Amino acid sequence: MVETSNPKFDSPVNEVILTALEECQGYVSGEDLSRQLGLSRAAIWKRIRTLRQDGYRIEASPHRGYRLVERPDLLSAREIGRKLKAVRVAAEIHTLGEVSSTNDVAYELAFQGAREGVVVIAESQTQGRGRMSRFWLSPAGSNLYLSLILRPAIPPRLAPLLTYLGVIATAEALSQCFSLKVEVKWPNDVLVRGRKLAGLLNEVKAETDRVDFVVLGFGVNLNMEADAFPAELSEKATSVMRELGHRISRVEFTRSLLEWLDFWYNEFLLQGADVIIKKWEAVARIGGKTLEVSSFGDVYRGVAEGLDHDGALVIRTGKDETIRVVAGDVTNVSVQPQGPGVTEEFLDA
Ligand code: BTN
Repeated sequence: MVETSNPKFDSPVNEVILTALEECQGYVSGEDLSRQLGLSRAAIWKRIRTLRQDGYRIEASPHRGYRLVERPDLLSAREIGRKLKAVRVAAEIHTLGEVSSTNDVAYELAFQGAREGVVVIAESQTQGRGRMSRFWLSPAGSNLYLSLILRPAIPPRLAPLLTYLGVIATAEALSQCFSLKVEVKWPNDVLVRGRKLAGLLNEVKAETDRVDFVVLGFGVNLNMEADAFPAELSEKATSVMRELGHRISRVEFTRSLLEWLDFWYNEFLLQGADVIIKKWEAVARIGGKTLEVSSFGDVYRGVAEGLDHDGALVIRTGKDETIRVVAGDVTNVSVQPQGPGVTEEFLDA
């Protein structure tokens, strides 16, 4: 049994207080609040105290009342849900402290019947994991660890497309919020200057002919300090803060990510797989790149043609020979030489 806190707005009373404080853009008297909410002045004061404990900076002035000075960068359902323009995605937002893995929590919720669009976010993970059971570093207070439950009516062979959809949304949110120039590495990595900044983990529960649910997990390094990366990751991984040199709003990024996910998921449902395939190919600029891909112990080299209709990576390995790779890692990318001065990129994050 999974227990979560903070469904979309955790306390309607606190929400009304915050809305009142925000709308007046100045002071609201304790008397007005108590009249509006039908609560005693002492009860209002108690609420203000809990909001302050949550990180809201609320000034109290004896004759004027209360004034909201600053909202916290708190990954709470209340902060993320505020002004969120997403319809299908983020039907419910659960925010938690420390968990083993948000994908485990979301999987369990989905297994118990949670609806499509349920989002699970944790402050930290003790067993955050990536593809191929790799460990995902998940310290508290800096990054985003988010899992989303989807229930698309699609056959299991199309489920990998949701990874591409997630990558597209992550890349769009990073460039919208921070103007970062992101690179995408097949199948699920988002990099900046060749270092990994975000990764996706797509876990599926399916029957032979239909998907029951998909849990799409996102790990995005946001406010992680450069010296917080262990030595073995320091050259391979990065964070938004490391790239920009200052802290950013985790709440704003999360909102943007959910809105892009909502947009691309709707496109996928309305227009089909092709729209996702084309967009991922464009974002990843995959066509024509010379790749080395390892898959189930074999290594293939060739020129990428793009994605097949089910999301498999198509590589031209010889004049009349192409192969389809459904799972694996790109271990080396070199841009096809088009003349002098073309540089080689090695992406081995
Ligand atoms: C990868 O790059 O291989 C995927 C990394 C995915 C990490 C995220 S963090 C939130 C969710 N919970 C997990 O345990 N993993 C994903």
